[in-house]
Amino acid sequence: MISLKNPDQIGKMREAGALLYEVLQKLREAVKPGVSTAALDVYAEQLIRKNHAIPSFLNYQGYPASICASVDDAVVHGIPSEDQILKEGSIISIDCGLILDGWQADSAFTMGVGEISAQAEALIEITEQCFWKGVRQAVVGNRLGDIGHAVQSWAEEHGCGVIRDLTGHGIGREMHEDPAVYNFGEPGRGLRLRKGMTLAIEPMISAGDWRVTVDDDEWCYRTRDRSLCSHYEHTIAITEDGLPEILTLPGFVWKEEE
Ligand code: MF3
Ligand code: CO
Repeated sequence: MISLKNPDQIGKMREAGALLYEVLQKLREAVKPGVSTAALDVYAEQLIRKNHAIPSFLNYQGYPASICASVDDAVVHGIPSEDQILKEGSIISIDCGLILDGWQADSAFTMGVGEISAQAEALIEITEQCFWKGVRQAVVGNRLGDIGHAVQSWAEEHGCGVIRDLTGHGIGREMHEDPAVYNFGEPGRGLRLRKGMTLAIEPMISAGDWRVTVDDDEWCYRTRDRSLCSHYEHTIAITEDGLPEILTLPGFVWKEEE
């Protein structure tokens, strides 16, 4: 069932989104060679709780941390660990979610640890561009397939793979609501988009094969060919007219080409 949000409810999600943005900015600054992913997780939980919010990932279906830290060939759901020390040249996706006053926000970014290869840099950039291509389609009257098609086309035109096993999602009082937001699809197909839909759009893009394996911890997804993978996510709201509001990018205004 899809729950449409009224302006008051979107206002609550905007507050949750703004807080999550602050948390993720602080985490970006904390990513350095020598830091463990467990330290990033502890820091995230402290920042969230200090601001009277709840880490939504912690204990979600048994997930043991407040962030997902997915390094190099890890796609998503990497469990932070004391033993995982960030190394110069790696890329890390940090995914985090929180609940503020009953409303959810979910966002992720990928960045380099110190200096990274040109290829890794390009993958991160293409993934962010995939998000922007997709989110521009999140307007009233379009369909879900328009978002997926835009993401997929941009990735594949650049020789990258779209992870198929995981999707974006509706979000609101729950972290995962209907509909599933595929990162591939056909234009003009799928659910019609409506004002008040709130979605997490999250392309997961690999430099090689799109197929994945899951680690023995039953959480961490990796590319099957162990190629690098990047992930970028924002929580957005579909507005009455024009382009959507990016709830996890406070103050963002659309320009001609984004
Ligand atoms: N951001 C992830 C998603 O969009 C949530 C992580 S799943 C959890 O699905 F189990 F780690 F919470
Ligand atoms: Co999500």
